[in-house]
Amino acid sequence: MCGIIGYIGSRNAIPILINGLKKLEYRGYDSAGISFLTGSQLGVRRCAGKIRELEGFIQKEKLKSTIGVGHTRWATHGKPSEENAHPHRAGGIVVVHNGIIENYFELREGMKKEGHRFTSETDTEVICHLILTYTQKGLSLEEATKEALKHLEGAYALGIMSEAEPDRILAVKNDSPLVVGLGEGEHFIASDIPAFLKYTRDVMILENGDIASVSRSGVSVWNMHAGKKVNRKVEQITWSPAMAEKAGFRHFMLKEIFEQPRAIADTIRGRISLEQGDVNLSEFSLKGGDLKKLNKIYLVACGTSWHAALVGKYMIEDMVRVPCDVDIASEFRYRKPIIPKGSLMIVITQSGETADTLAAQREARRLGARVLTICNVVGSTSSREADGVFYTHSGPEIGVASTKAFTTQLTALYIFSVALARARGRLGASEAQDLFHELLQLPEKVKAALECNDAVKKIARKYCRVRDFLYLGRGINYPIALEGALKLKEISYIHAEGYPAGEMKHGPIALIDNNMPVLAVAPDDNVLEKILSNMEEVKSRGGTLIAVANEGNTKVATRATDAVYMPRTNYYLTPVIMSIPIHLLAYHIAVLRKCNVDQPRNLAKSVTVE
Ligand code: M6R
Repeated sequence: MCGIIGYIGSRNAIPILINGLKKLEYRGYDSAGISFLTGSQLGVRRCAGKIRELEGFIQKEKLKSTIGVGHTRWATHGKPSEENAHPHRAGGIVVVHNGIIENYFELREGMKKEGHRFTSETDTEVICHLILTYTQKGLSLEEATKEALKHLEGAYALGIMSEAEPDRILAVKNDSPLVVGLGEGEHFIASDIPAFLKYTRDVMILENGDIASVSRSGVSVWNMHAGKKVNRKVEQITWSPAMAEKAGFRHFMLKEIFEQPRAIADTIRGRISLEQGDVNLSEFSLKGGDLKKLNKIYLVACGTSWHAALVGKYMIEDMVRVPCDVDIASEFRYRKPIIPKGSLMIVITQSGETADTLAAQREARRLGARVLTICNVVGSTSSREADGVFYTHSGPEIGVASTKAFTTQLTALYIFSVALARARGRLGASEAQDLFHELLQLPEKVKAALECNDAVKKIARKYCRVRDFLYLGRGINYPIALEGALKLKEISYIHAEGYPAGEMKHGPIALIDNNMPVLAVAPDDNVLEKILSNMEEVKSRGGTLIAVANEGNTKVATRATDAVYMPRTNYYLTPVIMSIPIHLLAYHIAVLRKCNVDQPRNLAKSVTVE
């Protein structure tokens, strides 16, 4: 997830671009850049770091221009550095890009053979070179862009400028957001409305396949799929600037919960081949041969990432039949672990900077294990020090409570489990294809699951004043009970515990009375009957039951006082779906208790101290 801004008009574009980038910084902040035209001469200024670094860097130059594009980056391909920062340039063409070009590697290799010289590690640079190739054949910028787009696979929003046509910006949208702001004799393009809300409230929302040609006098839109010019509605935005920053959501946490369909789709993108039932292993830097030799896996993480690790154990042991140990990172390093030859440590970390996780990762390497990190931040310490990286591509997570990072970690673990199972001959191509079919439906199912928001809010109103909460789960969904309890503690300050439901009778059942709600995570899986009995045990002792179950499950309905029903998916992916109402419940309870949802007391987003 990156941020794009563009301006064309009569004012100086430079401060407009910088202000816009500051508003988009929540979308990415590892490097930034702008490009502008002075007459028909393109200038590019970029640097690693935050927007204020870019601002400081260009301030001395007193730059002036009435047309330009800018970009704030959240790295997906290539580390955060000046060379990889956008805008990218080839000849007289510059491009800013948000999204992922899945086939960039093949395109780049092909163009290298034709003599193109690449200066970055990004997927974006191929777009400039492709457009340049077609302009050199005599096509206009718009026609050249149309030809170039035919080669691209993946998701993208683009801002494009050309020295040869200094009076227009092209805005292209395909599966990544892009909007056009309409002013008097001036126009804007941006990934998100807050970037230009200060200047105009009239917004044109582009649709997939749109190429908007934006000039001072107007905007015309061509749609690639329709193969013709189209009219797009102009809407008046009534949000306040603060609301707009969170895309109209009240908090970053809620925004991030609702971003999950996109985040999961981006995590899957380019990783699997449905036709062959195979996983693309190239970016893990672990080869099929390495995977065959593994005989032990350690999953290590902290907090919510540790819950993902627990789910990962169920996935890997079930699909791959390799023994897995799961450790809390701060425990691993002090327990004198025995690491046999052929061990792999899978580190799971959103930030890639958690001190305890890094210490465990270093200890494992010292003891001879190879390390794969499942990480959300490109270029983070964990990713730099690992033997292989699986980036989750969920975009920056601003809310301290981890939500989309968690479900994308689960998605990554699912893909990695299939890769491992295929490499070791535990899964045939057709079984992998079945698993992929289900995976590809996951973004849509998560979208459907999010429809429970109003029902969950009602439940939150009923229980938001309690002092204690108990969460129960079994099997692969036991970690989801832990996750529910952690989220509630973290943002609402209600005491909560997560328990494997079968353990209730060994102690915690003594706590049950009508003051403590018990939430059961009860999807239709191999332990449904077991958890139904555990629910009976709670009910018969006067406990109040809330259930999270699958659509049409009447057995759960008769036992629970309140229930929410989720779409069905396969066994391994139920934790992704079940975590949607769990996260929403914690969120709504915290809001009702007037807690600081995005920045809970005593907590930091990234815990970089032991
Ligand atoms: O960045 P990491 O995934 O390594 O962070 C680990 C935990 O600090 C983190 O998951 C924490 O538990 C969250 N605040 C939970 O919502």
